[in-house]
Amino acid sequence: MASYEKEGVLKDGTRVILRPLRKDDRDRLLDFFQRVSDQDLMFLRSDVRDPAVIDDWVNNIDLRKVFPLIAEVNGRIVGDATLHMRRVGWKRHLGNVRVVVARDYQGKGLGTLLINEIVDLAAEFGLEKLVAEIHLLSTSALSTFKKAGFSAKAVFEDLVKDQTGQSGDLVVMVCDVLGRDRKVG
Ligand SMILES: CC(C)(COP(=O)(O)OP(=O)(O)OC[C@H]1O[C@@H](n2cnc3c(N)ncnc32)[C@H](O)[C@@H]1OP(=O)(O)O)[C@@H](O)C(=O)NCCC(=O)NCCS
Repeated sequence: MASYEKEGVLKDGTRVILRPLRKDDRDRLLDFFQRVSDQDLMFLRSDVRDPAVIDDWVNNIDLRKVFPLIAEVNGRIVGDATLHMRRVGWKRHLGNVRVVVARDYQGKGLGTLLINEIVDLAAEFGLEKLVAEIHLLSTSALSTFKKAGFSAKAVFEDLVKDQTGQSGDLVVMVCDVLGRDRKVG
């Protein structure tokens, strides 16, 4: 798994490499998160602009626990999707997915490409369902996950707070890994 690498083509013809995060990606990943807006990062649980957080990630890669899939163009990281797994307990068949695409690469099909790849990886890991948590107002995220075969299962009103402290609704989307209905194009 660690050595796997795939090539994808975006809508504008740009070629991207999809591969797992490596230890030597530290500076590239820091650079990626420095360029992402606060709004696009509000769902993450760690301060990804803190070099210590990135150091911890790249020094403790365990692909069976968290699979960080990055998209690279000409040596620059332009997208990052993570698949979070547990080996025991009643959620051991579930995976959680998070995805961020650099602003200048959004709307080109990269988010869809990354999520589709994560769903394929989830099938290889033997997972049955994937879960994504999305702010109700993140319309492009809702569309992207829907396109990749996820559907909204629950809305928790007033549950989360954005970067300004404003409360918002959280949508939980779920994808049936084996029986999903992926839209092409
Ligand atoms: C969600 C996100 C990853 C989507 O990435 P992306 O590369 O722009 O996605 P795609 O180009 O594959 O777009 C997929 C669909 O989203 C919708 N979409 C994309 N950009 C959009 C925009 N600016 N406005 C409205 N809808 C948009 C479209 O329906 C699009 O499908 P189409 O191309 O067939 O029309 C990106 O917007 C992002 O990083 N957002 C911030 C992080 C986030 O909210 N993550 C979700 C929480 S896990």
